[in-house]
Amino acid sequence: MIMVGTRPEIIKMAPVIRALEENSLPYTFVHCGQHYDYEMSQQFIEELELPKPEYGFKVKAYSPGLQTGRIMTLVERVIKKTKPKVVLVEGDTNGVLASALAAVKLNVPVGHVEAGLRSFDLRMPEEHNRRLVDHVSTYMFAPTENSRKNLERESVWGKIHVTGNTVIDAVIQHLPMAERKANILEKIRFENFALATAHRAENVDDPHVLKSLVEAFIEAPLPIVYPVHPRARKRLRQQKMWKKLSSSRNIQIFQPLGYFDFLVLMKNCEMMLTDSGGLQEEATAPPIRRLTLVIRLSTERPEAVEAGFARVVGVEKKGIIAAMEQALRKRDELPRASPYGDGTAAKKIVEIIMKEAF
Ligand code: UD1
Ligand code: UDP
Repeated sequence: MIMVGTRPEIIKMAPVIRALEENSLPYTFVHCGQHYDYEMSQQFIEELELPKPEYGFKVKAYSPGLQTGRIMTLVERVIKKTKPKVVLVEGDTNGVLASALAAVKLNVPVGHVEAGLRSFDLRMPEEHNRRLVDHVSTYMFAPTENSRKNLERESVWGKIHVTGNTVIDAVIQHLPMAERKANILEKIRFENFALATAHRAENVDDPHVLKSLVEAFIEAPLPIVYPVHPRARKRLRQQKMWKKLSSSRNIQIFQPLGYFDFLVLMKNCEMMLTDSGGLQEEATAPPIRRLTLVIRLSTERPEAVEAGFARVVGVEKKGIIAAMEQALRKRDELPRASPYGDGTAAKKIVEIIMKEAF
């Protein structure tokens, strides 16, 4: 069973689904519905030409506990009905925790794609989720040796395989098509720009941090292209900051964009400003290779920092602007290879599953 529920899970599972099809390995595709807007969900299934999920739900805007509990109940029913040999989950969302728990309680082995990431920041729901999921997984697909070490240090129970991250596969598989199909660059008002995203609860749910990010974007030394995540949009409106942000001439706002448009923006921006996990990895993909300023206090992707692709710059306006200015003054040559693999992670994952689960 392939479980997805949010935007990045669909993108990162797409290469796994393709590898399953290439090996004629039957699977049930399930969308647990944590993300439900077209732009956060169905858009990616269509664009990446994935099959329609056999089971799909919509779990709208509950509290985290209700959201997790509701997904667990729904997924349990599907697992009971379809009796999969293994349930593959990807990442660290509430839907991933719920699905992994539903599976393990029915004695179905869990395979965790992107296992072993640690931010050591216990304010983050993602840190709770990924730790718990790793400890109930039978197969762990760690993207790097560093993530393997994290898992070994915690004496996890299942077996660890270092495979790279499937997001590099996704970039390599989709960028040529994106460059042919996407016309987003025609819509961009600026010649040179930084690409920004922000959605982490510890950022956008904190009014002080949200204000600091808005002011940093408005005063940034390079214009900002900013596709706004629904969580951030909701908070910006609640905090009455939406108008200030959207009327700034230094910022061009978009709805959440499709993957093809977004890939083309990543390839053509000067740098990225983000609290996203996936973006920190995609920035290291050989066809992208962009500097990422991580607007957070920590990262669970230290490999990108060590390789020179990412810098953790905090969430205060002054620090963000200073980091942008520094990056504009001195442009370092970025490595040719990604620390997250060479685009063959999904193939490796499917080979391991075929050998060990069947
Ligand atoms: C979730 C994940 C986060 C991941 C992100 C990917 C958790 C704890 N967080 O964060 O790790 O990086 O997805 O984007 O699982 N909303 C909509 N439409 C949607 C989806 C969400 O309007 O299709 C709004 C709702 O108001 C909802 C809020 O966004 O309450 C938060 O959504 P949720 O899925 O709980 O968390 P994300 O912030 O999206
Ligand atoms: N992405 C996209 N459109 C957007 C913003 C992001 O297609 O407007 C893609 C991006 O390329 C990456 C993924 O969504 O593959 C990242 O998702 P997000 O930042 O929501 O989640 P995270 O990676 O932090 O869990």
